[in-house]
Amino acid sequence: MFYLILLLACLLEAALASLQIVPGATWTASGINQHIQAHGGGIVEVDSVFYWMGENKLNGSAFQSINCYSSTDLVQWTFVNEVLTLQASGDLGPNRVVERPHAMYNDATGKYVLWMHIDSSSYGEARAGVAISDTICGDYTYLNASQPLGFQSRDLNVFKDTDGTGYLLTEDRVNGLRIDLLSDDYLSVVSPTHLYVEDYEAPAIYKSGDTYFMFASYLSGWSPNDNQYCTATNLSGPWSNWTNFATAGSNTYNSQTAAVVSINGVVMYMGDRWHSTNLMTSTYIWLPLEISGTTATMPNETNWILSLSSGTWTPGPSETTPEAEASSNVLTNGAVKQTCTGCSGGESVGYIGGSANGTLTFTGISSTVSTTTTIRVHHENGDSTQRYAVVTVNGVEKIVAFLPTTDGNTPGTSILTVPLLKGNSNVIEFAGYDGGWAPDIDRLMVPVS
Ligand SMILES: *[C@@H]1O[C@H](CO)[C@@H](O)[C@H](O)[C@H]1NC(C)=O
Ligand SMILES: *[C@@H]1O[C@H](CO)[C@@H](O)[C@H](O)[C@H]1NC(C)=O
Ligand SMILES: *[C@@H]1O[C@H](CO)[C@@H](O)[C@H](O)[C@H]1NC(C)=O
Ligand SMILES: *[C@@H]1O[C@H](CO)[C@@H](O)[C@H](O)[C@H]1NC(C)=O
Ligand SMILES: *[C@@H]1O[C@H](CO)[C@@H](O)[C@H](O)[C@H]1NC(C)=O
Ligand SMILES: *[C@@H]1O[C@H](CO)[C@@H](O)[C@H](O)[C@H]1NC(C)=O
Repeated sequence: MFYLILLLACLLEAALASLQIVPGATWTASGINQHIQAHGGGIVEVDSVFYWMGENKLNGSAFQSINCYSSTDLVQWTFVNEVLTLQASGDLGPNRVVERPHAMYNDATGKYVLWMHIDSSSYGEARAGVAISDTICGDYTYLNASQPLGFQSRDLNVFKDTDGTGYLLTEDRVNGLRIDLLSDDYLSVVSPTHLYVEDYEAPAIYKSGDTYFMFASYLSGWSPNDNQYCTATNLSGPWSNWTNFATAGSNTYNSQTAAVVSINGVVMYMGDRWHSTNLMTSTYIWLPLEISGTTATMPNETNWILSLSSGTWTPGPSETTPEAEASSNVLTNGAVKQTCTGCSGGESVGYIGGSANGTLTFTGISSTVSTTTTIRVHHENGDSTQRYAVVTVNGVEKIVAFLPTTDGNTPGTSILTVPLLKGNSNVIEFAGYDGGWAPDIDRLMVPVS
């Protein structure tokens, strides 16, 4: 029996081996079929399920809702709930700023406590708000907001130490970045723990053994900068000097810190790549952090695989790269090959969907194993809103979102997680969704195994 369970566990692991985290791609949530709207957020694990809460920016920067999504593999996410919704007036009313929601579980009260930046549209209030719920993704009850210990509070985060003590990390524009001790119930701020006098925002603390790592960004608005970290063995300090963790000059691979979390032992950086002119198209830059002693470094990966069972990660798999314009593909109902300057091979297939219901079918897609895998789809979408496609893989249908490709020439990436069969008879069809146009398709990147 034991060996049977072990065998099943191994098979399950093999079957999910090529699920990929693809930084900067369109991540479609099932249940809502939209690019995930959970900006500036974090992940809380409850009973082996990962819950991701963040800001909904579908309609610009003003508060719309705080969304919660769930996943068991960090790649396939399901929309669960709007945990805080737009109110007629007050802190959560129209034209308000509600940013960087971060929750933690209070063992003593049995409540999830959610802290967030509360502000007016001109950022003149600079307060920290708090809400509670019995369940991680439930409807939260909003309690109040204040300036902690009388200081301004903008970007914020929370940190639960290994002994259960809770802290609020808050950017006070006048004085610097603060770590404040929270009350036992996490609902109020008790006393100051540390003040970094340098100008940093977007804070996140990760504890490795006895060492605390503080990650944060410089202040440069929606534009990214080279985010920094420092370390200490006591939250009160002394803290080391700040230094880079990503490649210097890369602007943290074009992102800003949202959170740093341990996923079964893999330390993962969660960053936001903000697109200030169309915030809902902002993407998520999640990358593995390599922590060793008191150093943290973050490699740049186009795509990577997180093994939950072994607590390790590997770079993306070998791939085949089937082109949309390949002569073996089938185009119907007006779908056509067209010139595409930024596309591989200089061509894409357009006019998929629409009233004529054009379709593009890739045939002969190969895989050396029968497995659930993540396929990257290179596409162009010249609209300012998402396009959608109904993608049918070996008879299994998925609705996939495709963010605008704002710079015109370079294709964007959208990801699709589907079951592939061993052999080279896999068929992948792209059709329109609900009468709309699908994006132009450049090519697929399909894991070999
Ligand atoms: C989007 O936000 C604007 C400004 O806050 C508001 O007037 C409008 O009603 C919102 N639209 C939707 C669909 O929520
Ligand atoms: C917010 O509400 C909580 C729970 O009632 C309370 O403990 C805390 O003192 C309140 N904070 C402020 C600033 O009113
Ligand atoms: C951390 O530093 C504070 C302030 O110096 C001190 O009171 C506290 O005892 C220290 N904690 C530990 C665990 O050393
Ligand atoms: C920290 O930075 C300061 C100012 O640049 C420098 O004088 C000091 O030597 C640095 N300390 C360490 C431990 O590197
Ligand atoms: C990081 O990887 C992305 C995706 O492959 C690439 O576009 C970007 O140029 C890389 N950045 C750096 C600094 O290497
Ligand atoms: C368009 O084609 C797809 C795929 O063949 C099909 O599922 C869908 O029902 C068609 N839609 C319309 C409006 O004809």
